[in-house]
Amino acid sequence: MELKTPEESKTTLTDLVLPSETNPLNNLFGGELLARMDRAASIAARRHSRRIVVTASVNHVAFNKAVPLGSVVTVEAKVSRSFKTSMEIFLDVWIEDRESGRRTKANEAIYTFVAVDDMGNPVPVPGIDPQTKLEKDRFEAALRRKQLSLVLAGKLKPKDATELKALFE
Ligand SMILES: CC(C)(COP(=O)(O)OP(=O)(O)OC[C@H]1O[C@@H](n2cnc3c(N)ncnc32)[C@H](O)[C@@H]1OP(=O)(O)O)[C@@H](O)C(=O)NCCC(=O)NCCS
Repeated sequence: MELKTPEESKTTLTDLVLPSETNPLNNLFGGELLARMDRAASIAARRHSRRIVVTASVNHVAFNKAVPLGSVVTVEAKVSRSFKTSMEIFLDVWIEDRESGRRTKANEAIYTFVAVDDMGNPVPVPGIDPQTKLEKDRFEAALRRKQLSLVLAGKLKPKDATELKALFE
């Protein structure tokens, strides 16, 4: 099957933080950021697979930095690795300083999407060919994360998680 680069799936969503989207500290509500990331990730997965895609799992979210009311928030999503029918999407979240325009990394997350047919059955997706050092690093670690996610979901026995076991040997 054809190979695609992570760049081909790159999706960038930029939007403001409005009052209705904040918590009592006037920072962006976590669930709103999760929804924005889910949207960006689903577009990236769709661009990679050109199929209907569904969120299978949210593997990791780090809310490292609060995002204040009025911020300009950019969510960047790229497929970091594809497997048979699933794709790992890596998300980087940036906020932009109003005066300097300088971007600061606020958060990151990793989602898993699955390509499906009209009946919701998983279908194969193209392979991926990482180009940059960051893309290659993310690609390398993705199998370990997939195994961890499957173990936590009760879909893989820990003894079969070869990549995870290798970490402790
Ligand atoms: C995601 C879904 C299609 C998987 O279906 P399934 O019957 O478990 O199919 P499979 O077991 O063949 O898994 C399909 C792929 O998903 C991967 N997968 C399933 N659960 C996963 C998890 N928790 N973490 C990581 N990958 C997962 C499998 O490893 C497999 O990947 P591969 O084919 O690339 O090796 C199905 O569970 C579903 O439709 N869920 C609902 C999706 C949805 O509605 N999302 C929005 C929530 S509001």
